[in-house]
Amino acid sequence: MKIVMIHGQNHKGTTYHMGRGLAEKLAAEADITEFFLPRDLNHFCLGCYACIQDETKCPYWNEKKVMLDAMEAADLLIFTTPNYCLAPSGAMKSFLDLTFDCWMVHRPKAWMFTKRAVVLSASAGASCKKAMGTIKDSLLYWGVPCIKTFGLPVQAPSWDAIKPEKKTKIEQRLTRLARQLNTTKPPRIHFKTRFLFLVMRKMHSAGWDSSPVEKQYWAERGWLGKARPWQSTKTL
Ligand SMILES: Cc1cc2nc3c(=O)[nH]c(=O)nc-3n(C[C@H](O)[C@H](O)[C@H](O)COP(=O)(O)O)c2cc1C
Repeated sequence: MKIVMIHGQNHKGTTYHMGRGLAEKLAAEADITEFFLPRDLNHFCLGCYACIQDETKCPYWNEKKVMLDAMEAADLLIFTTPNYCLAPSGAMKSFLDLTFDCWMVHRPKAWMFTKRAVVLSASAGASCKKAMGTIKDSLLYWGVPCIKTFGLPVQAPSWDAIKPEKKTKIEQRLTRLARQLNTTKPPRIHFKTRFLFLVMRKMHSAGWDSSPVEKQYWAERGWLGKARPWQSTKTL
């Protein structure tokens, strides 16, 4: 299994170790590719909308492309982020902003509909729901049909400072997640993804696009007709 990990932080703290622990249960070292943010994409979206016309016109396209190509080649995507002020890290949020053109409301990539993803987070004491929810929203609107989450208040500023009983809990949950994700079957396309796709399809059919390029993109792939992105990844 090929895994791409996107860490919302440069340091190797709790969330890094949670993600790495999961990845190592599922894949050999050579099949795990890691990106650290901001190290590997140290930019904020400028709001220039250049990507809406042409994704390659994003000022940060070269760095984005490296990450997107790796994600396309992966079977599983793992996102990790510490809970910062009840949200994902700023670096992770920047990454999500820089991929907004991949949302179904714009130009989703067919391969996104074939991926499984996991979002992992840790906090000092607060719920990780909002931090993970922001990432989950992007994944859902990218078209990723299988998204699992696990977040935990660890009451510790570093991995080494976590109490042994908490680490046991983390280990048990990661083992369970690994069991669920250890499959070569394509993910099921659930009602939510199908429904969102149909709503977006209606919008694009009606020409409610951010640019005519979007309607053309959907039409070229046959998505305004009967074709669906989860049935074929030939057309990206
Ligand atoms: C800037 C910043 C903001 C934080 N905000 C929260 C918060 O709102 N709620 C909380 O419970 N913990 C908060 N924390 C604590 C971290 O989420 C917690 O220590 C987490 O385990 C760190 O994960 P890491 O080791 O992967 O960096 C914050 C930490 C930092 C540095």
